[in-house]
Amino acid sequence: MTTFEPLVFSGIQPTGNLHLGNYLGALARFVPLQDAFNCVYCVVDLHAITVAQDPVELTGAIREVTAAYLAAGIDPRAHIVFNQSQVHAHAEMGWLLNCVARMGWLNRMTQFKEKAGKDKENASVGLFTYPTLMAADILVYRATHVPVGEDQKQHLELTRDIAAKFNNDYAARIDGLGFGTEYLPQPEPLIQGPATRIMSLRDGSKKMSKSDPSDYSRINLIDDADTIALKIRKAKTDPEGLPGELKGLEGRPEADNLVGIYAALADRTKQSVLDEFGGQQFSAFKPALADLAVEKLAPIAGEMRRLKADPGYIDAVLADGAGRAAAIADPVVATMKEILGLLSTRR
Ligand code: TYM
Repeated sequence: MTTFEPLVFSGIQPTGNLHLGNYLGALARFVPLQDAFNCVYCVVDLHAITVAQDPVELTGAIREVTAAYLAAGIDPRAHIVFNQSQVHAHAEMGWLLNCVARMGWLNRMTQFKEKAGKDKENASVGLFTYPTLMAADILVYRATHVPVGEDQKQHLELTRDIAAKFNNDYAARIDGLGFGTEYLPQPEPLIQGPATRIMSLRDGSKKMSKSDPSDYSRINLIDDADTIALKIRKAKTDPEGLPGELKGLEGRPEADNLVGIYAALADRTKQSVLDEFGGQQFSAFKPALADLAVEKLAPIAGEMRRLKADPGYIDAVLADGAGRAAAIADPVVATMKEILGLLSTRR
């Protein structure tokens, strides 16, 4: 067994508004990992262009996601914050891994089926191979831990399969170059806590998402306090009060979702939220949830606005991050090429 330097990698697409699901499922969980790991956090713009984007809005969204990373508390000096397309190694590693991944594996990806919808013939080829680029993002840093929401689990499993197939197919070369039995790690998905799958505020059976046509379905990171309170007041619930035990949330997806959101925002377990609010009506719980959401999100929104007003600073952070990311990723691509028998471009 090869041992790999622990490294965290994750990414967020610059598409539409960042919402509470992105915050609780990903961003908020990226922050504490900085204490225990070296972390690399990416704005994945090459993934964004797998579907149509307005170029002007895309540029703004790249800066906005960067601002969200910084506003949430990620330190771009101690760790790396960068934009995917500014580091060539991602596209190059993506191609190498396209030649490892199997059609059958990609055909099973549920997110492609959801995103392509009925008109599969008209989807971009990039949307189909999206998961191999995601595997490349992770493996080009030989990252060992990947914090994501539940919806990315299948892509992480594919990443592990791709790494295993590469290691297996080229075992003799990998050994010959002195890497032992494996060159690529099996990255571990970090999908933990009460907020791995935040649901729509309008329909507890649907994931909270950037693409939902109803803005009332989600809380955007940049919503003001009144909007947050209004959306929580209007959130769908059932007529019963809150139960005292977790079992009482079964079959009540909307109630379960709101309790999960409270727990994640307060950094508590769902049971501890029920210990406090069990027996109360939503008319009492919703204002408490709104107050908590505003308390946690308003400072982030304020800082994002301040940072967005200074695009020069954001671009400088990204340029610095890209240089440091490339310093890790370029030698990995060079070694991958050597393993594959391609002529080295190592400088
Ligand atoms: P994206 O941009 O759709 O979402 C960014 C992160 O937010 C999480 N998330 C949620 N978590 C909980 N509840 C929700 N309703 C919710 N909606 C989104 C996602 O799970 C994700 O962690 N393919 C990825 C981006 C990516 C990536 C990577 C991630 C590209 N390369 C490499 C990790 C490692 C995506 O589209 O995330």
